[in-house]
Amino acid sequence: MLPEKGTFLHGIDRSAFTKELCALRGELRFEEPLACHTTIGVGGKAAFFLSPERPHALAETIRCCRRYGYPYLLLGAGSNLLFSDCGYPGLIISTEQLRGITLKEGSVQVFAGEPLPALLNTVNRAGIRSLNFLAGIPGSLGGAIAMNTGIPQRTIGDIIEEVAVLNPHGEVMVLKAKDCGFSYRRSEILEQRLPVLWARLRLDGRPYDRGEILTHRRASQPLSALSAGCVFKNPRGLSAGALIDKAGLKGRREGGAYVAEKHGNFILAETGARASDVLKLINIIRETVYKRFEVYLELELEVW
Ligand code: EPU
Repeated sequence: MLPEKGTFLHGIDRSAFTKELCALRGELRFEEPLACHTTIGVGGKAAFFLSPERPHALAETIRCCRRYGYPYLLLGAGSNLLFSDCGYPGLIISTEQLRGITLKEGSVQVFAGEPLPALLNTVNRAGIRSLNFLAGIPGSLGGAIAMNTGIPQRTIGDIIEEVAVLNPHGEVMVLKAKDCGFSYRRSEILEQRLPVLWARLRLDGRPYDRGEILTHRRASQPLSALSAGCVFKNPRGLSAGALIDKAGLKGRREGGAYVAEKHGNFILAETGARASDVLKLINIIRETVYKRFEVYLELELEVW
């Protein structure tokens, strides 16, 4: 249950705060259902929800939250995310409208909210194939960078030229790849919760066949069902999906959530599933895999 309006976050002048937010020209929504903002389609409501249209407005929104001490979370495409059934009692700042792609000689500048599939469409139309290793990943550019998403042979961190983020003082800071601390499904941007505004990606890498990558994904992953992608990180030298599979957990169900038959590292959600079903299943998987193989599976999925 969300706290009643006006009773939470003592000491914050909510009307002054919301007035300032509205002045940033984004449409401020109240009690926004979060299930429709994630690919797994579960979770409660956000007290406030705003999607700024320009990097400047995003930065201003975050500065406004910091000034008022108002809690906020930055939301990309919601493809690796589980909101609790209780929702979020602060402001969700979505990057869904923060879109834009500028192709330059040898690089492309992209705003944080651009979905990877749209980015791939644009660069492929220009005959560029080097980003195709990202085919079939539904995330936004900002989320993909924070998570250092990719395939085992290549991640987005490998092709970053620079990333503009908002530092904890609310200033725009342009980072080089070496300053981002990229490693397997991790970055300093994620660790320090630095909002990404835009990034410039190199386009000179080896080409990938988009069709081939998509065919492999469709054959091995349940892409047409509601999921949040891989739930666990692969333990060093092992495959989380294979461990879950060997532990006999495929098809295991809790309420409206179940382990995919196609790939053990995907939890699928039926209509009406609850975040608590997913969380229960995560615990069952972790316990079973640990008992069987003495391997503790670390979450790749972000739980808010
Ligand atoms: N396997 C099984 N059973 C399963 C699943 C996999 O035996 O249920 C075996 C496969 O046969 C293969 C091995 O495990 O021999 C690895 O499986 P797969 O090739 O599907 O790759 P993965 O390690 O499970 C990783 C990434 C995926 C990415 C693919 C691209 C992680 C956690 N997963 O999957 O990323 O799409 O490689 O090939 O790093 C994600 O991060 O959300 C994600 C889906």
